[in-house]
Amino acid sequence: MAGHYWCRETGGGNVFSCQVRWVMKRVVAFGECMVEFREIGNRQYQSSFAGDVYNSCVYMRRALDVALKGGFEVSFMTAVGQDAISDDMVKSWQEEGLDTSLVFRSDERTPGLYMINTDEGGERSFTYWRTQSAARDTMKFLRRSPDLPLEADLFYFSGISMAILGDDDRAFLLDLVRQMRGRGTIIAFDPNYRRILWHSIQEARDWITQCYQLTDIALPGLEDEQTLFNRSSVGDVIKNLQSAGVGEMVIKAGEQGMFGLDPEGRFHLPFTAAENCIDTTAAGDSFCGIYLSNRLQGLKAEKSVQAAARAAAFVVGHPGAIVPRDVFEGFLKRVAPEGIVKGN
Ligand SMILES: Nc1ncnc2c1ncn2[C@@H]1O[C@H](COP(=O)(O)OP(=O)(O)OP(=O)(O)O)[C@@H](O)[C@H]1O
Ligand SMILES: [Mg+2]
Repeated sequence: MAGHYWCRETGGGNVFSCQVRWVMKRVVAFGECMVEFREIGNRQYQSSFAGDVYNSCVYMRRALDVALKGGFEVSFMTAVGQDAISDDMVKSWQEEGLDTSLVFRSDERTPGLYMINTDEGGERSFTYWRTQSAARDTMKFLRRSPDLPLEADLFYFSGISMAILGDDDRAFLLDLVRQMRGRGTIIAFDPNYRRILWHSIQEARDWITQCYQLTDIALPGLEDEQTLFNRSSVGDVIKNLQSAGVGEMVIKAGEQGMFGLDPEGRFHLPFTAAENCIDTTAAGDSFCGIYLSNRLQGLKAEKSVQAAARAAAFVVGHPGAIVPRDVFEGFLKRVAPEGIVKGN
């Protein structure tokens, strides 16, 4: 990474003792970004770009920008095609301030796409065309680039990142995650279970269990845990994640609120319904992005959950996954004094 000087805070060192000109922290996140089509009436569709991990990266990047004006790099790792839509996608990621040095280009494949249908209560469902998407080949490209520096302070991925890969590539990715973790990278994971992307629930269960065994920060929804693992309660989820070695977690439990655990103990935040919920797409993704951006800045877990919930409640008041940049930045700046990105 020419021009970047890395300095870890792990192992007893601190940023001020390093002999470098500046310190850049880096997030690497692996996922798939698709073309999103949202109906605006009469079978007319508005398009944009979205995908769970990508959405989290965008919200993380925006929050870091407003809080810090630099000092962090958020690198979105994926693969796209050589087509015009792929070019436009990469351009839009760069416009969002994401690092695209880990974006591979497939000669054969193109991006996937999905459509959002939203019911009267704002609850959404998706239809996907993604089985041949370029992102599914990301590990193939990584295998061909053994010298690529996968150095990061935080690595983020999801159950969807896993679901889109074949078994060999899943194992390859987990090996990379293991190696990064061994070098001190914090691993964050949201299982984001999507039944349609897996061959069977047992397959999802097996792979997601392996992901948890390498996870430092888990961000599951309670519903996913109940569906996948038959967990009877939040306490049951916490116990099982702890026994997998997860040290920090936030369980998004819908109207029951958010249940957290960090090295200082457990906490709970009640759910506050958004006044205006029109589309819940990316509620969980923005939650994860803002939570992680605050944790990266050293904010405590409980405060980070408060900020994340506030941001997610704002996101559900807007159509589609990604709220326009100026609108979201306006929100961040308005609420910053109350602690969304600053203060302990
Ligand atoms: N209607 C709403 N009003 C206020 N906040 C909401 C609303 N819907 C979602 N949120 C916020 O977003 C967070 C995540 O929501 P959600 O349950 O949709 O994510 P998830 O668990 O990732 O689900 P999924 O991956 O299945 O979409 C909630 O914990 C809550 O803080
Ligand atoms: Mg989710």
